[in-house]
Amino acid sequence: MRLIVAKDYEEMSRRAADILAAQVILKPDCVLGLATGSSPIGTYQELIRRHKAGEVDFSRCSTVNLDEYVGLPADHDQSYAYFMRHNLFEHVNFRTECLNIPNGLEKDAQKECARYDAVIRDLGGIDMQLLGLGPNGHIGFNEPDDVFPTGTHMVQLTDSTIQANKRFFASEADVPRYAYTMGIRDIMQARRVLMVVSGKGKAEILRQALLGPVTPRVPASILQLHRNCVIVADEEAASQV
Ligand code: F6R
Repeated sequence: MRLIVAKDYEEMSRRAADILAAQVILKPDCVLGLATGSSPIGTYQELIRRHKAGEVDFSRCSTVNLDEYVGLPADHDQSYAYFMRHNLFEHVNFRTECLNIPNGLEKDAQKECARYDAVIRDLGGIDMQLLGLGPNGHIGFNEPDDVFPTGTHMVQLTDSTIQANKRFFASEADVPRYAYTMGIRDIMQARRVLMVVSGKGKAEILRQALLGPVTPRVPASILQLHRNCVIVADEEAASQV
């Protein structure tokens, strides 16, 4: 595990974009695992800028997103499908048929999770998985638990995640209670992992994830065992490490 400390959010985003862009340049037909949330937005802006400058071509890449809320259609402005279109996909040149996100409208959880695991498997696995860090240590929507979940599964969001995400909805009652998420096995099997962490609100949980015991109570702590994981944190987030 390698920790890169950046001065602030902008530098963190540039450093993360350097790593992602290098991945795409070195393997143009790579599979990128992507995340939503506030942490990667700057990274996506930087990738868009580099694409428009002719430096990165995504036309041969495939993507698999980490997660999606259950019950939200892809055109709902809080769905992760909408987020990805708005923050990255519509600004660069991925082919639409190569973009994969769990289908939040599929009511049969078993069917959707099996479908998504098959998508990842058929792509040959993930070359580089981008992650944010949840305030409770979650990665994807793998919430603190007694065991590490393996493949794609449906989760009930914890109160802390609902509280953290309600800022994006009209009211707390509107925050979906369930989500589909890739499991820890899917994330750990990615050939490379890149996590971006920003702000002093993440300092204590980043300390626990990097320096505490490996435990499903802090799902991101499993990354200590990943053989090719880079964490790019800004100075505030890294202040306790
Ligand atoms: C998003 C995701 C989540 C976020 C995490 C951090 O697809 O899977 O694990 O990465 O909740 O969110 P932000 O970046 O908004 O602090």
